[in-house]
Amino acid sequence: MCGIVGYVGRRSAVDVVIDGLRRLEYRGYDSAGVALVADGPEGGLEVDKRAGKLANLEGALADHPLPESFCGIGHTRWATHGVPSDRNAHPHLSADGRVALIHNGIIENFAQLRAELESEGVEFESDTDTEAAAHLLGREYAVDGDLTEAMTRVCVRLEGAFTLLAVAADDPDTVVGARRNSPLVVGLGEGEYFLASDVAAFIAYTTDAVELGQDQIVTIDRDGVTVRGFDGQASEGTPFSVDWDIAAAEKGGFDTFMRKEIHEQPAAVADTLRGRIDESGQIVLDEVRMSDQDFRDIDKVFIIACGTSYHAGLVTKYAIEHWTRIPCEVELASEFRYRDPVLDRSTLVVAISQSGETMDTLMAVRHAKDQKARVLSISNTVGSTIPRESDAVLYTRAGIEVAVASTKAFLTQLAACYLVGLHLAQVRGIKYADEVSAVLDELVAAPGKIAKVIEDLEPVRQMARDCASAQRVLFIGRHVGYPVALEGALKLKELAYLHAEGFAAGELKHGPISLIEEGTPVIAIVPSPRGRSLLHDKIISNIQEVKARGAKVIAVCEEGDRITKAHADLVITTPASPTLLAPLLTAVPLQEFAAELATALGRDIDQPRNLAKSVTVE
Ligand code: G6P
Repeated sequence: MCGIVGYVGRRSAVDVVIDGLRRLEYRGYDSAGVALVADGPEGGLEVDKRAGKLANLEGALADHPLPESFCGIGHTRWATHGVPSDRNAHPHLSADGRVALIHNGIIENFAQLRAELESEGVEFESDTDTEAAAHLLGREYAVDGDLTEAMTRVCVRLEGAFTLLAVAADDPDTVVGARRNSPLVVGLGEGEYFLASDVAAFIAYTTDAVELGQDQIVTIDRDGVTVRGFDGQASEGTPFSVDWDIAAAEKGGFDTFMRKEIHEQPAAVADTLRGRIDESGQIVLDEVRMSDQDFRDIDKVFIIACGTSYHAGLVTKYAIEHWTRIPCEVELASEFRYRDPVLDRSTLVVAISQSGETMDTLMAVRHAKDQKARVLSISNTVGSTIPRESDAVLYTRAGIEVAVASTKAFLTQLAACYLVGLHLAQVRGIKYADEVSAVLDELVAAPGKIAKVIEDLEPVRQMARDCASAQRVLFIGRHVGYPVALEGALKLKELAYLHAEGFAAGELKHGPISLIEEGTPVIAIVPSPRGRSLLHDKIISNIQEVKARGAKVIAVCEEGDRITKAHADLVITTPASPTLLAPLLTAVPLQEFAAELATALGRDIDQPRNLAKSVTVE
C-alpha cells in the first residue's frame, strides 16, 4: 500500500528512484511523484507528481526533465485520504516549500493536526492526511535546520501507521526516514544508500540490506546510515542479505508477471518444502519461540488472514482438524479483534500473510498476543513485522511475487500450512501415523503434478475466452474444493471485474441457484472419485441441479473421472491426489482461467484497478 523510495549517492537520483518505483508499483498505482534536491550550492527542491500510473510521471519527466540531482525521494500511491489526482499525489511540501515528504500508511490524528495548523494560518493544498505531517516537518526544520531532529520531533506527534521519507531544499546529501507499523528497509551500496518499502526497489544495485524496527528514524547520506529511536536514542537495524536477484523481479520472457508467477509454482512449492523434513521425518519450523509442551497444550486453533491468504487458511482448517483433532476456526483478520474472540494461553493463532505487513492481520496478531494466545505465522517476507511479532514462523519461499493477484504465494502458503498441520500432529502425537507419512510423500510429489497441470493449460485458456461475454461466473465446491471455489471467484473478480462468486455446492439450493440462467458458466471443483466417493456423488448431484437450470458446467476433476466427464459440459483434469492436498492442483487452472478471461476483456492483469498487493492500512 503505497511504495516509497529514497536515494543518496553518485547516480542520477531520478533514474534510481523511478526504477525503484517501477518495482514497487504493485503496492499502488493511483499516482506517482518524485522530489529531488538539485545538486550544487543553491540546492532547491524539484517536484513532479502525476495522477495515474507511473508511466504518466515518466512521460512528464521525459517532456520536462528535472535538473541533475543525486538525492531524492519517490512515491507510488494507493489512495486513502483524497481522490487520486495530481494535487493529492505525493510528495507534499511544507508551507515554506523547504521540505518534501512522502508517506505510506494513515496518520489517524491528521484532522486534529490539520485544524491546529489551519488555525495558525497554514493553507492546505491537498485532501491528504500526509500534508499535515509535511507542514509540521517544515516548521520543525525551520527551527534548527536539522532534518533528523525535525523528523524526530514530528513523529512523536503522529498517531497511526506511517513510513515517512523527507528531503530538504538546502541539504542535497540527506534523506531521512521514519517507520511505525509500515515497512521500511535500507539498501547498503558503496557510497550510495537506499530507503524503500521493499528490497525490490534497490535489488538492481545491492543485495545488502538493513531491516528497521518499530518506531525508528533513519538518516542516509553519502557517508552512511544512522538509526535512532523516536526517543532520540541511538539504535540499530538488523542487517540481512537478499537471496534473490534482479532477474526474479523481471518478467523473464512472459507477457505479464502473473503468467510468469503461475509458471514458477512448481519450483516455489518445491523450495518451500525443501529441507523442512529432517532425517527422522519431523517437520522443521524456521523460528520457534515455543516449547513442544506449549504445542501440546494447544486446545484450539484460530487461523487469521485476508484475501487469498484467507482461502489458504480455509483449506488448512480441513487438514488441521483431520490430522490433529484440534478444533480449528478460520477468520478474516479484519473481523477477528472486533468480535471479542475467546482466546487464552492454550489457543494457537496461525497468521497467514504473504507480505507479513497486512495491517488487518498485524492488528489481529497483536490482539491475540494481548490475550496471551500463541502466534505462529506463515509469511513470504523474511523479517517482516508479522513474523517478527510471532512466537513461531514458517517462511514460504515463493520468491518475489509482483502481480497483484496472488498465485505462487497461495500455493506455497498451502504447502507451508500442510507442514504446520503435520508439525502440530507430530508434536502432539500422531493419530493417523500411516496417513501422515503418505501425505508427506504426496506433498513431495506435488511440484511435479503442478508442472503437469501447467503444461496442459491451453484448453483452459480456450474455455476462458469462450466465457468472456458472460454476465457472471459461479464456482462451486465441497470440502477443500469450497475454498478453491472461493479463490477461483476472487481471481476472476480481481482481474476481470466480473461478477464471480464461490459457493459451497450444497448451499446452492438455499439461494444462489436463482442466479443461474441459460448459459451461465458454473465451474465445479470435483473431489477425487476414489476414497471419499460420497463427496463425489454429492457434487455430481449439484452439477445436475445447475445443468437442469441451464448452466454450462466446466468441471475441474481428476484424470480418469469418467462419471464427471459424463455429466459436465467441459472438463479440466488434474493428476490424482489425496483429497486434502488437491487444492495445490485444482487452484492452478482457475488462476489461468481468470488471467485469460481478463486478457480477453482487455484488462491490466498485473495491476487491476483499485487494488494493491500489500495493504498496510485497516
Ligand atoms: C491484498 C492482495 C491479496 C492478498 C491480501 C492479503 O488484498 O491484493 O492478493 O491475498 O492482500 O495479503 P497478505 O500479504 O497478508 O497475504
